[in-house]
Amino acid sequence: MKTIFITGGAGFIGSHVVRLFVNKYPDYNVVNLDVLTYAGNLENLTDIAHKSNYTFEKIDITDYEALKALFNKYLPDGVIHLAAESHVDRSITDPFVFVRTNVFGTCNLLHCAKELWKDNFAGKRFYHVSTDEVYGSLENDGTFFTEETKYQPHSPYSASKASSDHFVRAYHDTYGLPVVLSNCSNNYGSHHFPEKLIPLAINNIKNKKTVPVYGKGENVRDWLFVEDHVTAIDIIFHSGKDGETYNIGGNNEWKNIDLIRLLCSVMDRKLGRKDGMSAQLITFVIDRAGHDLRYAIDSSKLQNELGWKPSLQFEEGLEKTVEWYLANEKWVERVTSGEYQKYYEKQYNRR
Ligand code: NAD
Ligand code: DAU
Repeated sequence: MKTIFITGGAGFIGSHVVRLFVNKYPDYNVVNLDVLTYAGNLENLTDIAHKSNYTFEKIDITDYEALKALFNKYLPDGVIHLAAESHVDRSITDPFVFVRTNVFGTCNLLHCAKELWKDNFAGKRFYHVSTDEVYGSLENDGTFFTEETKYQPHSPYSASKASSDHFVRAYHDTYGLPVVLSNCSNNYGSHHFPEKLIPLAINNIKNKKTVPVYGKGENVRDWLFVEDHVTAIDIIFHSGKDGETYNIGGNNEWKNIDLIRLLCSVMDRKLGRKDGMSAQLITFVIDRAGHDLRYAIDSSKLQNELGWKPSLQFEEGLEKTVEWYLANEKWVERVTSGEYQKYYEKQYNRR
C-alpha cells in the first residue's frame, strides 16, 4: 500500500486529482492535505469522501511543525503538491499571502519530504504542479513556451510560483530529492471557483449580470479541460523522469473576447434565449495591472516522451462545463453565498 499526499485536494484541480487517484488506485492510501481557504470546498469530493483509501487532513502548509507531524504519522511515499493561492487578481491586491503559501508552504513540504526520506529516495517522488505563467508573456507571433523558455514572471502570483519551482529544483540539485514538475496552461471544467473567467461568466450570464472583459479582450489564453490536465498529472507522477519538467497545454488558443462570445452563444442555446441576447451583457472594464498578453504551450515533450494528449475539443469541453454548472446550481449558490464554508464543520463534526 503506497501513501500519497495530495495538497490542495479540496480546490478546483486538486479535487479532480484526488477523485482520479482514489478511484483508479484502490491500493493507494490517498491523503488530502488542505487548509480550506475560500477556494477549498470539501463538497467537491462528496462522491469519494466515504472511500476507505481516502483521508482528509485540515492543515496549513505554512505550519512546518504540523506538517512534520503529518509526515511522521503517514510516512508518505509520494507528494503531489497543488495547494496554492491561485488567482492573479488577488495576488495584485495581497501579494504576501501568495509568498507565504506558494513559497514558504512549498519549502516546508520539500523540507519535510527530505527529512522523512533522508537519503533513501528509492520509490519516492515529490511532484510540483505549476503554471505556464512563470514564463511571462508571448507576443502574437506564433511562438510557444517550451521547457527551455526562460522564467520571466510578471504578477505576484507568477513570481511566487516561479520561486516555488526554483526551490523544488534546488532541493533536487542540492539534496538529490526525487522531484518532477509540470507547467500547465489555463484549465476549465467543473468545480471551478466562480472568480475565474469561465465560471464567473457562466454565472453572470445565467443571472443576467454584466460579464466583465478586461481591457479590449485581446489577451490570449491556451485552454485545457481539467480532466486532461489530471490525466497528464497521473502520467507524469508515475512515468516522468526525475528532475524533469513537462509543459502541459491544450494547443487551444482563444482571445478572451472570442471565448466570451462563444460562451454567450452556448448559454443562449442552453437557456432557450434568443441568439445574441447574452452577448449584450459583455462589458469592457479597466484592464488588469501587468496583464500578460498571450500564453501558448508547446507540450510536445510530454506527448512524445510520455504519450499524453488532450482528449477533448474545446467546443465539446465548454459545452460539458456549461451543462455541469447549469445542473449544479446548488453548488454555485452555496459557493457564492459562503454556505460551503460550513461544510467541514458539519461533515467532520468539528469547529
Ligand atoms: P484553487 O485555488 O482552486 O485551489 C487551491 C487549494 O489549495 C484550495 O483547496 C485551498 O484551500 C488550498 N490551499 C491554499 N492555501 C493553503 C495552505 N496554506 N495550506 C493548505 N492548503 C491551502 O487552485 P487550482 O486552480 O485548483 O490550482 C491548483 C494548483 O494548480 C495551483 O498550484 C496552481 O498554481 C496550479 N495551476 C492552476 C491552473 C489553473 O488554470 N487553475 C493552471 C496551471 C497550474
Ligand atoms: O495559465 C495558467 C493560470 O491560469 C493559472 O496558473 C492560474 O492559477 C489561473 O487562475 C489562470 O490564470 P488567468 O489569470 O489566466 O485566469 P483568469 O480566469 O483569472 O483570467 C483569464 C483571462 O481572462 C485573463 O486574460 C484575464 C481575463 N479576465 C479575467 C476575469 C476574472 C477578464 O477579462 N475578466 C474577468 O472577470
